[in-house]
Amino acid sequence: MEREPIGVVGVGWVGLVTAACFAELGHEVWARDIVPEKVESLSRGEVPIHEPGLPELVTKNAERLHFTTEMGDLLERAGLLFVCVDTPPTYSGDADLSRVEAVIRELGDSDEHALVMKSTVPVGTGRGVQRRRDGLGYVSNPEFLKEGSAVDDFMRPDRVVVGADEHSAAYADRVEALYEPLGGEIVRTDVASAEMIKLASNAFLATKISFINEIANVSEELGADVLEVARGMGLDDRIGPRFLQPGVGFGGSCFPKDVQALKQLAGNSGYHFQLLTAVIEVNELQKRRTISKLQKHLGPLPGKEIALLGVAFKPNTDDVREATSLVLAGRLAGEGANVRVYDPIVGDKAEHMLAGAHIAESALDAVDGADAVVLVTEWPEFAELDWTGEVKERMRVPLVVDGRNFLDREALVDAGFTYEGIGR
Ligand code: UDX
Repeated sequence: MEREPIGVVGVGWVGLVTAACFAELGHEVWARDIVPEKVESLSRGEVPIHEPGLPELVTKNAERLHFTTEMGDLLERAGLLFVCVDTPPTYSGDADLSRVEAVIRELGDSDEHALVMKSTVPVGTGRGVQRRRDGLGYVSNPEFLKEGSAVDDFMRPDRVVVGADEHSAAYADRVEALYEPLGGEIVRTDVASAEMIKLASNAFLATKISFINEIANVSEELGADVLEVARGMGLDDRIGPRFLQPGVGFGGSCFPKDVQALKQLAGNSGYHFQLLTAVIEVNELQKRRTISKLQKHLGPLPGKEIALLGVAFKPNTDDVREATSLVLAGRLAGEGANVRVYDPIVGDKAEHMLAGAHIAESALDAVDGADAVVLVTEWPEFAELDWTGEVKERMRVPLVVDGRNFLDREALVDAGFTYEGIGR
């Protein structure tokens, strides 16, 4: 059977995962990016991002994966164009759609192509595009990929959302057919609902995190242990155990942006989305509470040596977008503390965003002479450090603020550490 050729517009993280996975499924894929250096290095098989399994897929499917700077290469060969360009937030909190608009302009007046929108866009974007360009096919196909497991998420989806209005139904059937071999449930809907499913899913998960963070904060006051509470709650299948881990707040390229975007979108339509306002505030509060915990034990922070373990917004990625570490480094520097950071893979890539923090060569180097360690990202190697031996010997004050409840509290306390978790 002849497989549908695929066009991918924008080869960032989502675009590259999408291109490589469709190639793995046997499709010829033409992937276009406007940055020539990126296209050149991808054509040589060099993958610029840290995503497990992705370099292997790119190498294995090199014959079917074609990287180009020319939109014409895609238009000539593929009917379905998966749009994976950035839609970053503007100062107002609305999404910046200029890159999506540029793609539409490049299509000219083609009526043999469909845009398959993977980028997260405001609800109503699809309708607006179709109103202006009625010959153009339009399918909303939001991505739900998690960094660190994106290839697996693509290949084994919980669900695939395909949104199209009537005149694009035939294109939507073709999109559905692409995902059929993967076995996830296909949710076929109108465009606006598909756009909303994406924003609502991320906003709900973020709400779950802020909720458990507030339960953690109240548990600290009332003497409950949030880990026990979350376990007891999570066994109810209506609640479920996932996304109930309290911590120093959610970050990353999706949650902060999508929660803000949905709140803004609601506001623009005249509706005040109260719950999301609180979700954002609680997420900010979590970061402030970390600083308060340090102050509680150390007093004023000027001159104090604080080690931050972990820079990435979560483990198994080198992504620092909206990472809590950046905010903490800035606030601590603002309080006059000397900050050292260590992350196993981010290295000095984020140095310019870390408010003058010293980038340590290793975790042990970071904790050397420290008045406190703040564990920000739960990288497995941080659990394996010799906390009760080498780490304790090197620290000036044995104080640990475990921002992810990741370390062995009993062992640390027995060894004489002052341990502050979240909600315990
Ligand atoms: C998320 C969504 O999961 C994905 O479906 C969407 O397409 C993009 O955004 P990602 O940003 O890769 O994916 O990260 P995720 O693993 O969901 O974690 C997001 C943030 O929430 C991290 O900062 C993480 O530390 C935090 N988190 C997650 C918690 O604080 N507690 C939890 O229980 C779960």
